[in-house]
Amino acid sequence: MITLQIDGKTVTVQSGTNVLEAALQNGIYIPHLCHHPDLPDIGSCRLCLVEVEGREGVVPSCKLMAEEGMVIRTDSPEISHLRQLSMELILAAHPEDCSTCPKYGRCELQTLIQYMGTSATRMHTRVKGFTRDERNPLLIHDMNRCVLCGRCVRACQDLRGVGVLQYNQSNMETYIGTLHDKLLKDVDCRFCGACAEVCPTGTIRDLINYTPTEKRDTLIPCQATCPAHTDVPRY
Ligand code: FES
Repeated sequence: MITLQIDGKTVTVQSGTNVLEAALQNGIYIPHLCHHPDLPDIGSCRLCLVEVEGREGVVPSCKLMAEEGMVIRTDSPEISHLRQLSMELILAAHPEDCSTCPKYGRCELQTLIQYMGTSATRMHTRVKGFTRDERNPLLIHDMNRCVLCGRCVRACQDLRGVGVLQYNQSNMETYIGTLHDKLLKDVDCRFCGACAEVCPTGTIRDLINYTPTEKRDTLIPCQATCPAHTDVPRY
């Protein structure tokens, strides 16, 4: 076991635990998006930044292994500034039409935006212009909503050992797809749904839980804390 200090709280975790998990396991929340407890970490979203006493700069806590005697700070003016920049970079490539997304109210990105109080991005925003892929049974791919956290790729590869999802390129945009954009059934997808389960946004959706927007007809109370939205269509 390893004992360290996070935001002044002494915590003990198993060796081999990263600082993000050490914090979460002990009730200390650090914003994060690409991290998922069942998947190997890649440290791409840069939201989970922390400072380590005695070391220069900030580091993503999901890629930092807990060490005996470490002193971690999860918030400071610099961390806050860099975290907001990371979020704004993510939002620069994400559409703003959240209220029309079938995952509205259940979206991890939406929750994070509200938690961090990010109202808009100062970056140049771009529309990716992908066509929503509805060719496959059970799963819809809407790559316009993708934030490239890579959870789906890791779930397919590392969790299920299938590996049919990969990073593709089109017109300078990276997107998640299959080899040569083949249909999922033609690349031996097992349709286990793990990709949709770990997706933090409305990018990969399974048709059982998230029907297309046009089929929604009933309003239920919004789960989000945003006062501007009091109702959200039923999925
Ligand atoms: Fe650590 Fe994304 S959760 S970099």
